Amino acid sequence: MSIAKTIPQQLQTNIDNIINDIIPNPWLTKIERVSYTNKIRDLLQQRDAVLIAHYYVNDELQALADKTGGYVSDSLDMANFGVQHDAKILVICGVRFMGETAKILSPEKTVIMPTLNAECSLDLGCPIDEFSRFCNEYPDREVVVYANTSVEVKAIADWIVTSSNAIQIIENIMAQGKKIIWGPDRHLGRYIKNKTGADMILWQGHCVVHDEFKSHELEQLMKKYPDAEVLAHPESPEAIISRADFVGSTKQIINVGKSSPANTLIIATDQGLFYKMSQAVPEKLLIPAPTGGKSATCKSCAHCPWMAMNTLSNLYETLRDMTNIIEVNERTRQQALLPLNRMINFSYEQGISIAGDA
Ligand code: 13P
Ligand code: SF4
Repeated sequence: MSIAKTIPQQLQTNIDNIINDIIPNPWLTKIERVSYTNKIRDLLQQRDAVLIAHYYVNDELQALADKTGGYVSDSLDMANFGVQHDAKILVICGVRFMGETAKILSPEKTVIMPTLNAECSLDLGCPIDEFSRFCNEYPDREVVVYANTSVEVKAIADWIVTSSNAIQIIENIMAQGKKIIWGPDRHLGRYIKNKTGADMILWQGHCVVHDEFKSHELEQLMKKYPDAEVLAHPESPEAIISRADFVGSTKQIINVGKSSPANTLIIATDQGLFYKMSQAVPEKLLIPAPTGGKSATCKSCAHCPWMAMNTLSNLYETLRDMTNIIEVNERTRQQALLPLNRMINFSYEQGISIAGDA
């Protein structure tokens, strides 16, 4: 397997896109922010559009989604909210695979995003040609892919999972006596494999954000706050997962934070989650898990660069001009719909949270 050769070039192109997108959007003044917010609110109404945001986008976009009757959640819930809502236009604030998932599930709706350059290192690190060659080497295995993949990769999968339902879906496949090919996140794959004992061959992708959490520094923090509970997203490295009290999706982390008796929570995921987390548990001390080692200037800077590309100004321009429309090849969409529906139906049957309150 030779994905290491392809990632740097794709990542570099994307980093160039990030710089191009961010530089024209410096910090807004309060007046500009209010003005954008009002204009976006009006456009949403005029166009019959709804804002659906991921927990990792900037606070102001999450707040706007809440205030305008939209939704903020994890990737599974975002997809389902879009299906169930009757707006003609879905405005997805997140990364491209989330926009594509919305389009796969709601082909009759127009799906737009503030920028089409918001990628994901897992998606970029799993190109369709190499991944399908990898799958062809093991024809007797079920292909299970994480939602953080392109529509083309989803189209060759037997199952799609998110971090909310991965364990249950893998257990279900195991119960049928089947072996598994897993892609793309190696940490999530290893976590599931260890937890379930499934026979899984793992693609070696990673999330550039979660991969940065440092176990030595986490231990120091745990010593400083001995009563704290550690809540981690399963895209984090094994050394973080093994020290965590709870491992789960973004939405599950919020729910566990609410029910936990601990007054201090150390959280190993993107800092965008702190917006909703601090609303859910205002009385608790929330500490970001460290990403910086001894020599680093940043103690914790876990924030997805692609999620950060969603801004008030590019959201406004997209809605005003109706640009950045997600297009998906119809044949590929229909192929990707099968494993996606399989996941959604399974999640319903198992009572795994779909478009409910965090
Ligand atoms: P969730 O499915 O937990 O929302 O995670 C998506 C993601 O991109 C995490 O990095
Ligand atoms: Fe992808 Fe990681 Fe960003 Fe999530 S946080 S969108 S997995 S790069």
